[in-house]
Amino acid sequence: MILVTGASGHIGSRVTEILAAKGAQFRAMSRTPDRVGKPNNIEAVYGDFEDPKSLEKAFDGIKTALIISGNSMPGKRCFEHKIAFQAAKDAKVDHIVYLSLMGSSPESAFPYSRDHYESEKFLAETGVGFTSLRNAFYLDMFFQKIGPDGIVRGPAGDGKGAFITREDVAQAAAAAALNPPVGVIDITGPQALSIADVTQRFSNLVGRELTYQNETVDVARVRLQGSLNDEWNRDVEIGWFEAIERGELIPVTDSFEQMTGKPPCTIEQYYEEFPQLFDSLGGKQSAILDDDMKRRLA
Ligand SMILES: NC(=O)c1ccc[n+]([C@@H]2O[C@H](COP(=O)([O-])OP(=O)(O)OC[C@H]3O[C@@H](n4cnc5c(N)ncnc54)[C@H](OP(=O)(O)O)[C@@H]3O)[C@@H](O)[C@H]2O)c1
Repeated sequence: MILVTGASGHIGSRVTEILAAKGAQFRAMSRTPDRVGKPNNIEAVYGDFEDPKSLEKAFDGIKTALIISGNSMPGKRCFEHKIAFQAAKDAKVDHIVYLSLMGSSPESAFPYSRDHYESEKFLAETGVGFTSLRNAFYLDMFFQKIGPDGIVRGPAGDGKGAFITREDVAQAAAAAALNPPVGVIDITGPQALSIADVTQRFSNLVGRELTYQNETVDVARVRLQGSLNDEWNRDVEIGWFEAIERGELIPVTDSFEQMTGKPPCTIEQYYEEFPQLFDSLGGKQSAILDDDMKRRLA
C-alpha cells in the first residue's frame, strides 16, 4: 500500500490520478480528506504533519510513503517533515519518497532549498530506505512570476535553470512511489533555459510580448516591499532568482526519462497538452495551436 500526502495539492492530486489509472493500491492523505476522497472514489484519510496523532492512522499498514513537501515558512517546514518521517518510521514503512528540490544545500540562495537540505538530513537520520526526488523549479512558477504588464522582474541575470513542468514532477513522483529508486535524484526538464529564454518561448506561444527585466537584489527588495509584507516572503521571491543566477538549477539530467520511460515535456509540448494553464498570460492566439506551430512540433 502506498501513501500519498498533500493529496489535495497540485502534485498530490495528480499523483493520485496517475496511481488510480494504473490500478495501484494507495491511500490519499490530506488535511481536507472530504475534498479528495469521495469525489474521486479513492481512500482518503485526514493527516497533518503538525498533528502527529493523525499520522499514526494515515501511515498504518503503508509500505511506501510519498511525502510531498508542505508550504509552511522555511525553517518551520523542515520540522513538520521531520514529524512525518518519524511517523513513517514508527509505522515501519519500508521506503519513503520525499519531494525535494534541486540545489538543496545549506549554502543555497533560496530559503526553501536550505529547508529541503534540513529535511533531507532528518530523512536520512530515520534510517528508513528513502528516495529524495530533487525536482528543478517548476516551469509553472512562471505563470505567477510574469506580471500583469507581461514582465518578469528579478535578479537572475543570464542564469539558467532546467525547469520542469508540474505534470512531469507528478509523473516522476508516481513512478517513484510505484518502483522506488534509492538515493538522491535530480529531476529536470529537457533543457537549461534563462528566464529571458522562457519568456520568449511563452511569448511566441501566446502571441503577446512577454519579457524579462533583470534587476539588482536591492532594487528587487525595495520593489517587493510594496507587495509582500513579510521579509521571509521577500527572501523566497528574491532567492528564487538568485538560485537561478548562481546555476543551482542545472545541469540537465536524464533521470526523468530513466524513471518514466519518456523524455520530459518541452514548453511547446506543455502548451499543446495543457493550453488552459497559459490562459493567465493573456495573448491573442487561441488556446489551440495554429498549423504552423503543429508542423514545428511534429
Ligand atoms: N520546485 C518548485 O518550483 C516548487 C514550486 C512550488 C512548490 N514546490 C514544493 O512542492 C510541493 C508540492 O507542490 P504543489 O504544486 O503540489 O503545491 P500545493 O498545490 O501548494 O500543495 C502542497 C500540499 O502540501 C500539503 N501540506 C501543506 N501543509 C501540510 C501539513 N501541515 N501537513 C500535511 N500536508 C500539508 C497540502 O495538502 P492538503 O491540503 O491536502 O493537506 C497542500 O495541498 C509544495 O508544497 C512545495 O513544497 C516546489
